[in-house]
Amino acid sequence: MTDQLSPVDRAKYAAAVCAADMVESGMRLGLGTGSTAAWMVRRLGHRVQEEGLRITGVPTSSRTAELARQVGIDVVSLDEARWLDMTIDGADEFDPELALIKGGGGALLQEKIVATASDQMVVITDAAKEVQHLGAFPLPVEVIPFGWQASKALIEEILGTLDVMGTTASLRMEGDRPFITDEGNHILDLGLGRIGNARQLSLVLNQVPGVVENGLFIDICDIVLIGHADGRVERR
Ligand code: 5RP
Repeated sequence: MTDQLSPVDRAKYAAAVCAADMVESGMRLGLGTGSTAAWMVRRLGHRVQEEGLRITGVPTSSRTAELARQVGIDVVSLDEARWLDMTIDGADEFDPELALIKGGGGALLQEKIVATASDQMVVITDAAKEVQHLGAFPLPVEVIPFGWQASKALIEEILGTLDVMGTTASLRMEGDRPFITDEGNHILDLGLGRIGNARQLSLVLNQVPGVVENGLFIDICDIVLIGHADGRVERR
C-alpha cells in the first residue's frame, strides 16, 4: 500500500504506525492534527477494528474528530477525559532539545492544551523537520479577530527588540478570506528565520493583547519518532 506514496509520505506513515503501535488498551489518547497524525488515527482505527483495541480519543481539531469517528475510535472531549495517558501529534520543526514549532495546520491552540494535559507527548515526523535552530518554518500565532491589525503591529514592533532574524507577521489566508481556526480566531505567521531564545519569545508573544497562543512547544514533547521512506524509525 505504501508503494503508491511519495517518499515523504512513506516516512510520515512509518513514524505514525510506530507511534500507534505503542498504544495499549485502556489508554486515553490525545489525537493530533495534520497529515502525519491522520495516518496515526487511521492506524489506531485499524487496531480498534481488527484487534479490539479499546481506547478513548481526544481530538485536537474538528478535522481529526471527524476522521477518528469515521475509523471507529471512541471520541470524547478533554473535559470528559480530564487527563490523558499520551498525545501523539505531528510537528513543523523540532530542535535538539525537542522544542517544537507547531500550527502549520492551524490547530496549535487545541494541540497545546491537549498535549499539556497528557502524561507524555510523542511527536511523529519525517527527517526534514529536524533543525538545529527553530524558525525557518513561519511561527503561527493565534489571535482573536477583534483588532488583529493592532496585535500584528505590536508583535512586529516587539520582534524588532528580540533575538530573531525576521520581524514580519502575515495574516494566514484561505483563498481570499482570512483562515479561521476551530476557536473562531485568525493566525499570524511570523517570518523569523532563526529564533535565538524560544522560551523568551513564547512568553513575550503571549503577553500581547489579542494573542491567544503561539506555536512554540517548549518542554512539552517527550519523544520524537522520525520516520524514513525505507520504513526505519529513529527515536530522539
Ligand atoms: C497542525 C500541526 C501539524 O502537526 C503540523 O503542521 C505537521 O503537519 P503534517 O503532519 O501535515 O506535516 O501542527 O496544527
